[in-house]
Amino acid sequence: MSDLLELVREDLRGFGGYQSARSQALQGDLWLNANESAWASPADPGSTSRRYPDPQPTALRSALARLYSCDEASLLIGRGSDEAIDLLVRALCTPGRDAVLVTPPVFGMYAVSARLQGAPLVEVPLRQAASGLHADMQAIQQAALESRAKVVFLCSPSNPAGSAIALEEIERLAAALQGRALVVVDEAYGEFSDLPSATTLQQRQANIAVLRTLSKAHALAAARIGVVIADPALIGVLRCCQAPYPVPTPCAELALAALAPATLEQTRRRVELVRNERERLRAMLGALPGVVAVYPSQGNYLLVRFVDAGAAFRALLDAGVVVRDQRAVPRLGDALRITIGSPEQNDRVICALRLQEAAA
Ligand SMILES: Cc1ncc(COP(=O)(O)O)c(C=O)c1O
Repeated sequence: MSDLLELVREDLRGFGGYQSARSQALQGDLWLNANESAWASPADPGSTSRRYPDPQPTALRSALARLYSCDEASLLIGRGSDEAIDLLVRALCTPGRDAVLVTPPVFGMYAVSARLQGAPLVEVPLRQAASGLHADMQAIQQAALESRAKVVFLCSPSNPAGSAIALEEIERLAAALQGRALVVVDEAYGEFSDLPSATTLQQRQANIAVLRTLSKAHALAAARIGVVIADPALIGVLRCCQAPYPVPTPCAELALAALAPATLEQTRRRVELVRNERERLRAMLGALPGVVAVYPSQGNYLLVRFVDAGAAFRALLDAGVVVRDQRAVPRLGDALRITIGSPEQNDRVICALRLQEAAA
């Protein structure tokens, strides 16, 4: 057994999962093996949804493998990266024993999945520096080894902090944890980042898994298409832990259309616009007297500290602008996270904050 498969829960080794009707390689022209309806729904004249879908739609899987420059065998499609996070925790962590390591303040689903699995949660807070909040790689390594964490989540670019982790640092951590933990690099915002993907490390370090999603740069949050890219042996295990038909046909078709060359080109141009707007908004926010700090960001959002974050939040809300209130998050009591919108939307943000400051 490879080093990597030894990280899988002992009680799941050899587990084959559910064998759906679609997973059997049978031939025929009259399919009466899955208790589907003989007729299309009147609401579905194109009859795209009468039959259960391919568990991993072939064309979509190839298109995603091309997009992320990986082998098809290294990729599993799920219902957003949320499902991938959950699958990884479930497949690797024995309840009550194997820990999940997170780096708060960070995306909350890692901790939710750990809680649901009964996996102890180890927190290694981001380190505060003048340039923002950064992963403390030495402390992560030490805590992971001491706590015998099985899954280490690195969010890069980090939500909500905006910082990204250099590939050398990720590789060093994965090497130190080889045979002990899987390092999961969540690249939900990777398209907006200057740094290359951690998939480029996987040849050398098999204990790295990478999460990608079509929810952000590709503007398909409602389609719920995310992927985990990892060693094919681990992908096989995750597939056995996944629901039988995780990718609805209408979602797969939409995702495939989003990966056509012309659409991808438009997405690339929009990403460029967001990156430019991010810097424009950062400069404008930084010039406001009521802003204490606005950190550099590699994502499509900015983390902003205010003299009075409550007043800024209310002023934005009064102007109809809803941003993410971070005040209840430890160490972010003065912060809001603002998603980068279109140029006009970003102007509205600035306008509302300037008006509030002028009135104060
Ligand atoms: C860092 C991070 N990872 C994963 C997700 C979940 O994305 P998906 O829509 O692919 O489930 C989000 C959503 O906000 C996120 O911020």
